[in-house]
Parts: sequence; C-alpha cells; structure tokens
Amino acid sequence: MAGHGTHGTEEDAAAMFEPASWEERYAGAEKVWSGNPNAQLVAEVSGLTPGTALDVGCGEGGDVVWLARQGWRVTGADFSANGLARAARHAAEAGVADRTDWWQVDARAFAAGGRSYDLVASHFLHPPDGGMVEVAGRLAGAVAPGGHLLVVGHAPSEVFTQLSESHRRAMFLAADLVPGLPAGFEVLVAEQRPRTMVRDGVTVDVHDSTLLARRTA
Ligand SMILES: C[S@@+](CC[C@H](N)C(=O)[O-])C[C@H]1O[C@@H](n2cnc3c(N)ncnc32)[C@H](O)[C@@H]1O
Repeated sequence: MAGHGTHGTEEDAAAMFEPASWEERYAGAEKVWSGNPNAQLVAEVSGLTPGTALDVGCGEGGDVVWLARQGWRVTGADFSANGLARAARHAAEAGVADRTDWWQVDARAFAAGGRSYDLVASHFLHPPDGGMVEVAGRLAGAVAPGGHLLVVGHAPSEVFTQLSESHRRAMFLAADLVPGLPAGFEVLVAEQRPRTMVRDGVTVDVHDSTLLARRTA
C-alpha cells in the first residue's frame, strides 16, 4: 500500500478516516494502490483450501482479485462506493467477476447479520482511536466454524512520526487485537513482520502487525 503523506490540523487528519475522504481519493483517474496482493495475505492464505472469503476495506480490490484467482468466492467490502466500483472493474478485467461480489459497509458498525465466511481478511483498514480492536471483534463474528480471521496493519514506527497523531493512534500491534476476539478463537499468529515498502518515493523498512486466528467452535 502507499503512504498517507503529512496532514494539516488534527481535524483535517480525523476527516481522512471518513468515507468522504476515501470517495475523493478513489474519484480520480489514478490508481491509488499497486493492484498486487498484500504480502501477509499471500503468506498465510496460499496454504488454505479455498472457500468463501470476505475482504473488509478492500479498496481497489487487489486482494479480492488474487483470492478469486486462487479459487476463493470473495466478497469485497468497503465504505467507499467509488472504491468498490473500481474493485469491481478490476475483477472484471481480471476475468474473475463471476467469483466476486461487493458490500458497501462501514467496518465500525459491521455486523455479520447471519453471513459467515471461511476467511475474513482485512488489510490496513486502520480505523481511528485504536478502533481496530473493536473492528477485529466485529469481523470475527463473520468467521465460520473452522474458518480464519486475518487482520494486518501497520505497527507504530518512527517511519511514521511525521503523520498526524490520529494516524499514529490508528496503528496497532497484533497482540493488541487479541482481547477484542470473542471466545472460541485460537490465535495462530500474532506478530510484527518486517517488510520493505515505498513511501513517498523512498524505500523504507516497516513492520506488518499480523493476526491470524482460527475459529474452533
Ligand atoms: C489503506 S486502504 C487499504 C486498501 C486495501 N486493503 C489494501 O491493502 O491495499 C484502506 C481501505 O479501507 C477503507 N476503509 C477505511 N475505513 C473504513 C471503514 N471504517 N469501513 C470500511 N472501509 C473502510 C478505505 O475506503 C480504503 O479502501
């Protein structure tokens, strides 16, 4: 994924977590993300048997397209209608439209509503004010028995010191999310994994906070 750059006031920064800001980012002609699948998704899911998957905060659909190509039946979810429209276009271009569908939803109010998936994944969603703990718990509610929850985000790092306080508070360690999980989950991975990424044209070393949990009951 790309970086967020620097921001003006904390109020401006807080607005960047809301749908209007993302609608604007996805309204232009330029692609925002590379289209490549996220590294931890490839690392953790390549060994799983394909089934049904939900990707929350799917953006332009890079992970949805990769999962569909691996044989998964995938729902891409995001609160941005423009993002979902782009993702649907990319899925059609990749020839996997028939293995994908789309759900416009705010993860902060997510409720499974009776739906369940063999894999629920979320990469770099970063709700504000440490909100990923609650969001991870909500997403866990959509995991089918025997299924997996994979949540990945940025670990706090000095690489991000020029970001707003709001953005730095949105980052998390994998272990922070564990108390948010309901009973009946076994934690398989809770660690920060090193990765290099390009941020504002510069290659930097970051850590992906990676939580993988399996629903046992
Ligand atoms: C940093 S992008 C990551 C996109 C993609 N997962 C990836 O890794 O390339 C974050 C995405 O989450 C979406 N998003 C942010 N907050 C959200 C929320 N509360 N509910 C649903 N989607 C949200 C944004 O619209 C955006 O597409």
